[in-house]
Amino acid sequence: MARFKLLLLPGDGIGPEVMGEAMRVLAWIEKRGFASFAIEEDLVGGCAYDAHGKAISEATMQKALAADAVLFGAVGGPKWDKVPYEVRPEAGLLRLRKDLGLFANIRPAICYPALADASSLKRELVEGLDIVIVRELTGGVYFGEPKTITDLGNGQKRAIDTQVYDTYEIERIARVAFELAKKRRNKVTSMEKRNVMKTGVLWHEVVSQVHQREYKDVELEHMLADAGGMQLVRAPKQFDVIVTDNLFGDMLSDVAAMLTGSLGMLPSASLGEVDAKTKKRRALYEPVHGSAPDIAGKGLANPIAMIGSLGMALRYSFGLGDVADKIEQAVATVLAAGLRTADLRGSGTKTVGTREMSDAILAELERLQ
Ligand code: IPM
Ligand code: MG
Repeated sequence: MARFKLLLLPGDGIGPEVMGEAMRVLAWIEKRGFASFAIEEDLVGGCAYDAHGKAISEATMQKALAADAVLFGAVGGPKWDKVPYEVRPEAGLLRLRKDLGLFANIRPAICYPALADASSLKRELVEGLDIVIVRELTGGVYFGEPKTITDLGNGQKRAIDTQVYDTYEIERIARVAFELAKKRRNKVTSMEKRNVMKTGVLWHEVVSQVHQREYKDVELEHMLADAGGMQLVRAPKQFDVIVTDNLFGDMLSDVAAMLTGSLGMLPSASLGEVDAKTKKRRALYEPVHGSAPDIAGKGLANPIAMIGSLGMALRYSFGLGDVADKIEQAVATVLAAGLRTADLRGSGTKTVGTREMSDAILAELERLQ
């Protein structure tokens, strides 16, 4: 049986609650003999700041670099609103992405049939939706320098963020999108703002070149990111794979999340380059939702995005795609049976807490076995 090194970083808010449920699914995977895990757990975000004065410690970074995969919960909350910018909880997540080289963020948005009425859009627009946003994750305005606030001395301040992209960064994320599309419905939509931004001009040019050179058999379409956002809520089923930069990807993936019924449904994978020698790639898996401090500690959080993120780890890091399929199937069945966490409440359904939802998913997994 394969043995994998897994680092769990539950973080803040509802992070530890949903991570607890993912750990129960991990235990089930071991019990059923699909794989075994060497699991370590550590601090990230606000709780790490409380313990070490940093959003992630050097020792934790070393563990992340040594792991086959990192499972991440969520970070942040009002308690840390006033901490210095450099050590704010989100800095821990951004450092993990940057130092692990996790340039490819894959955010699938699937609308389970049972949830078509939980979306803020009409049922016919979202029923059967199955799209993926491929977000560039280690470049752009998130990391570009200079990134400063300067006092101009006349009662005014000036804030600068810098949007930077090099050719290679656009090439490699475009390849991830084209490869993914080949296994799906063979269509990529690239989104940028070439009408306003130089990075948009280069993005458009490089994605087109990669397409011409390597992926002529995949359909490529370009959209301005604002129009893309509009199309995402007008007719989301027109898309298959959307590829876009770090900031547009952040915004568009939150929009896509609501199409599926709730932000509490979306898992994500952040992947690095495949190592030519070991054939392995660094990876971090996290739910797209945040730390939801308003419901933290109450047992109300939806564990599906976290459990789905574990499913993505099984698929992309552990070669256990069939077990990942089972998890998705179990989630679909439980939703079809009418179970809903508070974020998904709808008529004719039963509202349950975090624990009951994953109890039901585990029971269904056992039944599928
Ligand atoms: C996300 C989040 C993060 C981001 C925050 C927590 C830094 O919104 O993963 O979408 O902006 O990338
Ligand atoms: Mg976001």
